Amino acid sequence: MIYYYSGCGNSRFVANSLSEVLGEELRFIPDLIDKGIKEFDCEGGLLGFVFPVYAWDVPTLVRDFIKNACWKGKPEYVWFACTCGDNIGLTDRQFRKILSSANLELDACFTFQMPETYLCFPGFRLDTEENAKLKNDAVRAKIPAVAEQIRSRQTVSDLIPGKHPWINTHIIGSLFHLTISDSGFHTTDDCIGCGICARSCPVHNITMENQKHPSGNSHDGQESSQGEKRPKWNGNCLQCMACYHYCPKNAVQYGKLTAGKGQYHF
Ligand SMILES: Cc1cc2nc3c(=O)[nH]c(=O)nc-3n(C[C@H](O)[C@H](O)[C@H](O)COP(=O)(O)O)c2cc1C
Repeated sequence: MIYYYSGCGNSRFVANSLSEVLGEELRFIPDLIDKGIKEFDCEGGLLGFVFPVYAWDVPTLVRDFIKNACWKGKPEYVWFACTCGDNIGLTDRQFRKILSSANLELDACFTFQMPETYLCFPGFRLDTEENAKLKNDAVRAKIPAVAEQIRSRQTVSDLIPGKHPWINTHIIGSLFHLTISDSGFHTTDDCIGCGICARSCPVHNITMENQKHPSGNSHDGQESSQGEKRPKWNGNCLQCMACYHYCPKNAVQYGKLTAGKGQYHF
């Protein structure tokens, strides 16, 4: 079984690919949370997790899911694969701690460097198209080897900790978590009210509601008196950036920090 979470598709690609090669069933963590499923039988099997690195750490959604679940039986082999734009700090150690609180032990971890998705700090940029392609080609090439290591139950520690991993995970990462908020998200007049942002949000934090845009105009430049369906962010955000990257009009923005930075999703 492979449990995964993904905002912009990178980790979904890795999870899908490994599931296909290994013949392992795939489960999307936010769906399990929605359905209130909390008991998992992992006796004797492979137990895998795939997720993106957020602030040199495991996303809170993944951490809480593992901690709140009941893992029955003893899996034969436990592994995780994380995707990151650059490096993972001490994500592996954080993940081991989470597993141990669920009485599970890690056998292998893998890192996939993939295109960057986070843009909500000054100075943060997407990869160039060329670099994004190089990263994704390297990931495609690496999948069979990782699948073979998992299949043969190897003990693996394939990590990219980067410089100053302790400081990044424990100091900068902790501060980062305090800044996570959706209050900066808004739409420009280009918003067509299609609702793709709401459907792409893995935690259903966006509702489409009749709102008058601050400029008073609709997306076609007409004055709009009654308002139009526009996204409203409801305060339960992971800042996964899916709403921003999947918007077909690039109309979702975060304050002034995302203007002109472009979009990416796998
Ligand atoms: C909130 C947030 C925090 C991130 N933090 C890191 C980080 O600490 N290190 C890193 O290399 N990449 C970081 N990234 C980039 C993602 O880990 C990377 O692009 C990942 O592949 C995205 O996966 P997804 O498409 O499955 O959501 C961050 C992205 C987001 C949205």
